Amino acid sequence: MCGIIGYVGDEDAVGLIVEGLKKLEYRGYDSAGLAVFTGGGFEVVKRKGRLSVLESEIAAHPLRGRVAIGHTRWATHGEPSDINSHPHLGSRSRIAVVHNGIIENHKALRERLQSRGIEFASQTDSEVIAQLAEYYYNGDIMDTVIKVAARLEGSYALGIMCRDDPDTLIAIKKDNPLIIGVSPHGSFLASDVPAVLKHTDTVYYPEDMEIAVLRRDGVRFYNSDKEPVRKEPKTITWSVDSAEKGGWPHFMLKEIMEQPKVLRDTIRSAVSGENKDVIDGIDIANVKKIVITACGSAYNAGIVAKYVFEKLCRTPVEVDLASEFRYRDANIGPSALVILISQSGETADTIAAMREAKAKGATTLAIVNVVGSAIAKESDMCVYTAAGPEIAVATTKAFSAQLALLYALAIRFAVKLGALSPAGAEELQAELWALPDKITSVLAQVDTIQRYAASCVGYKSVFYIGRNIDYAIALEGSLKLKEISYVHSEAYAGGELKHGPISLIEDETLVVAISNCERLYGKIMSNIEQVISRGAKVMLIGRNPDAESGDKLTHIALPDTAELFSPSLSVIVLQLFSYYVAANKGLDIDKPRNLAKSVTVE
Ligand code: F6R
Repeated sequence: MCGIIGYVGDEDAVGLIVEGLKKLEYRGYDSAGLAVFTGGGFEVVKRKGRLSVLESEIAAHPLRGRVAIGHTRWATHGEPSDINSHPHLGSRSRIAVVHNGIIENHKALRERLQSRGIEFASQTDSEVIAQLAEYYYNGDIMDTVIKVAARLEGSYALGIMCRDDPDTLIAIKKDNPLIIGVSPHGSFLASDVPAVLKHTDTVYYPEDMEIAVLRRDGVRFYNSDKEPVRKEPKTITWSVDSAEKGGWPHFMLKEIMEQPKVLRDTIRSAVSGENKDVIDGIDIANVKKIVITACGSAYNAGIVAKYVFEKLCRTPVEVDLASEFRYRDANIGPSALVILISQSGETADTIAAMREAKAKGATTLAIVNVVGSAIAKESDMCVYTAAGPEIAVATTKAFSAQLALLYALAIRFAVKLGALSPAGAEELQAELWALPDKITSVLAQVDTIQRYAASCVGYKSVFYIGRNIDYAIALEGSLKLKEISYVHSEAYAGGELKHGPISLIEDETLVVAISNCERLYGKIMSNIEQVISRGAKVMLIGRNPDAESGDKLTHIALPDTAELFSPSLSVIVLQLFSYYVAANKGLDIDKPRNLAKSVTVE
């Protein structure tokens, strides 16, 4: 859950490393550091705290060089501190390493090295990599890296510099993301494309255990027998602007506002673009059960999808948290289709769930945003959401893109299964294509939602309720609020209120109710009456015509759409509401405390 970057070239490496780290901060932000060649050896500067702390340090003590590596950290082993920050050096300061991942056998390696007199400076698992490299170093850095990698258990993406070879960077990965970018002025390694996008749209995706040797004039790849490997570069289609804030106060707000375009691009890709062939190739007729597994918001997208798939396709659907699925010995086999949903494509639990599903013989289909990510590569089939780079830690546009792709999949499956007539499918397709404009009209209510959110800043606890598919999206609303505003919130199915949670409703509790399911309008209204009569204030989101704003009830109305697609409209209000509650509290919305965007550890 850290970000790594490296540069070798003609330009100011320190400036480029800091610029790249800014784009990777979403991966971790409790400390940051860099190492640069300055002629005689490395200069290392690393600081606990946000990247801005490192920047101030560099501004006070400028560093110059053309070759450097950098790191932004989300602590796993060892508290956030200057000393535990990366890069880590070997005991003779000949080798510097930045690491993203976890070294599972770090304790055994550390003990072995310590028994040979090597002293460690930090408490991190990552330092063993630098110490091991220094220990094995025989004058050939590639040999050394191969030897070290063979002894590491766990996951890693590494950027390595060696004092004896000051014009070269080495990179290697296993189960963690790494891209190599080539530009006219030099070569980059990085955890993710946005870090290099300003300088190049030409990147390579190394396979596990391939070694990349980066020099000013290009990159060469080798296998672990030191044989050259031929690789084709990929051209990134994301625009440079897509990874910039572009005048918005936060990436989160920018990304919320981008959703109409993201939906259009995602639907187009599913209906007539790159995803269409993959979707058409799925043998849904022989699928007896669909299992959807994911984490966090992606899991919530899966819950929405359960309602959609079961209604349209009549195929049984199970939704499971990836962290549970991986250990529960699920009763699945070759007749199951396991759908993995992941923005990053690198969530550790979702990767493990995918491997578990494959081991049981199921077919795996991934819905992923990041091209070339582990899940995209390893799943049997993959369809991509067209959300572009999502920088804010709290997902918004990628979630909406997941929903759109799931709707498109469900329509296609239902037609293939004969559960939906061509006319019915056409009608739903038209509704799908109408969603982006309807989202635009919900976004136009931003001022009303902002004002309402400002009046809600004092609440200590918020309850989200909904029934049927409105319950599914209530889960996402609740997650969004708690993660960025630090307000405690819970989501319940409306019918469950009386079975416990209603005892928590008292004066000045806030309840967010969602109501788009016509045959349940009356039921949710009676839930609302029950909570109002116990002192709660209610925000009702939806097209329920029975709702009338008053003292205790504020109704945010939504445009009409197919009931099954209504989560895509409700979620816009839920996102804006959470955003403005957090903004009114003056919080660091794009980087909420304790969270990181890519959860590459269990
Ligand atoms: C919430 C959020 C997280 C992610 C979860 C899965 O706003 O962003 O809950 O949805 O960590 O991440 P991915 O989709 O990358 O697998």
